[in-house]
Amino acid sequence: MNTNVNAVVGVQWGDEGKGRIVDYLAQDAEIVIRFQGGDNAGHTVVNELGKFGLHILPSGVFNKDTTNIVSAGTVVNFDTMDGELENIRKTAGYRPDNVYIDVRAHLIMPYHMALDGAEETKRAEGAKIGTTKRGVGPCYTDKAARSGIRAGDLLDEEMLKSRLEALLPKKNRELEYYGLKTYTLEELLEVTKRWKEKFGSHIIDSVPLVRKALEEGKKILLEGQLGIMRDNDWGIYPYTTSSNPTAAGACNGAGIPPRAINKVFGVVKAYSSSVGGGPFMTELFDETGDKLRSIGAEYGVTTGRPRRVGWFDAVASDFSCYMNGVTDIALTKLDILDSFEKIKICTGYIIDGKEYHYLPVTRLQEKAQPIYEEVDGWMEDTTKARKWEDLPKKAQDYVLRIEELLKTHITYVSVGPERDQLIVR
Ligand code: GDP
Ligand code: IMO
Ligand code: MG
Repeated sequence: MNTNVNAVVGVQWGDEGKGRIVDYLAQDAEIVIRFQGGDNAGHTVVNELGKFGLHILPSGVFNKDTTNIVSAGTVVNFDTMDGELENIRKTAGYRPDNVYIDVRAHLIMPYHMALDGAEETKRAEGAKIGTTKRGVGPCYTDKAARSGIRAGDLLDEEMLKSRLEALLPKKNRELEYYGLKTYTLEELLEVTKRWKEKFGSHIIDSVPLVRKALEEGKKILLEGQLGIMRDNDWGIYPYTTSSNPTAAGACNGAGIPPRAINKVFGVVKAYSSSVGGGPFMTELFDETGDKLRSIGAEYGVTTGRPRRVGWFDAVASDFSCYMNGVTDIALTKLDILDSFEKIKICTGYIIDGKEYHYLPVTRLQEKAQPIYEEVDGWMEDTTKARKWEDLPKKAQDYVLRIEELLKTHITYVSVGPERDQLIVR
């Protein structure tokens, strides 16, 4: 199949810089598709219009000629989507009109958010997932239980009413169990009516549109949310999100045949960060960690929480490159390491006295001690580098060592958040 479909996926624990890379690659894309997750995402885009934190909107929203689709694999909160579009209007001076929602996308209902918060509170200390409390987990739960409400239901009042009537008694029992506010049918119909008025004309069956573009060889970008370490099947279960932010998940969530994927761009941060619970082998608890967090501005876009930070973990990223079939790496935030005299790379773990060079399951990750190799830092400003030759030799060596460990070509090296702070190799 001669296609131009590329996926952008997070290789670590999230916040690798996916939004920034999608914004760059989307400049000439016909279609950008957010294929899983909800408004738990926090994708930062800095361009000539300003700085934006996107949650549910695809990061191609700033290109007026690009069609943006929030696809079947996602869960959508129309209130936050409306808020994001309004934020863009305030900063950029216009409200984008190039976003469409597939009829099959599930809707995050008010009760999903309430349940997300209550379930998280009830989890024991040490077992907390640290969810974003956006209702993502409870919404996917209903999807799997086949009691979800989908975007297309808004367009069919009879259908919507009968589905809401059928699920309400069960939902209200759950809400009562947690001592939360219950809902009447009328209250929910009021909410869904508002959503239909705002977004009804943008709810579409995206398949004919995407298929036509795919068959005509037009450029299609699939934007992932989060990294594989939070994938519900392959990540640090149960400290995961409730969907699959992988390249395989991209096919499924966006409705793209697997063989149509051309390239898989794996976004890799030059060090590591994680928000929420679960094992994180290279975590730093000392001043080096504080320095990394502070220079890297590692605070959550969605929740504002300080992110856990650590050295680059080549074992976890190697697992991720394999699982995603990454063809090209976009290495981000190299500049954040500019002032570190020594930099460490994790190349294995010691678990129960045994050496591991592959990523084991969550339970073993919890006991893993990282094995490091240490390299000299370059101690020079890289933010103005625009060509490979502009990078200090030691920075080049660091990039090449990562390339060697991940056995995957590093095509882009990012040295700042702006569109042009990118080296193409
Ligand atoms: P995402 O969730 O994967 O899209 O990543 P986030 O937006 O949550 O976090 C990445 C942060 O790093 C954002 O604030 C970006 O503006 C910023 N960023 C991305 N690439 C670079 C880079 O190469 N250098 C620096 N200094 N900042 C970057
Ligand atoms: P981007 O797209 C970092 C984490 C939460 C929690 C777990 C499950 O910016 O990379 P959820 O709300 O999805 O049920 O939470 O996943 N998490 C993220 N961490 N960046 C994100 O998005 C995240 N979205 C969810 O902290 O541990
Ligand atoms: Mg983020």
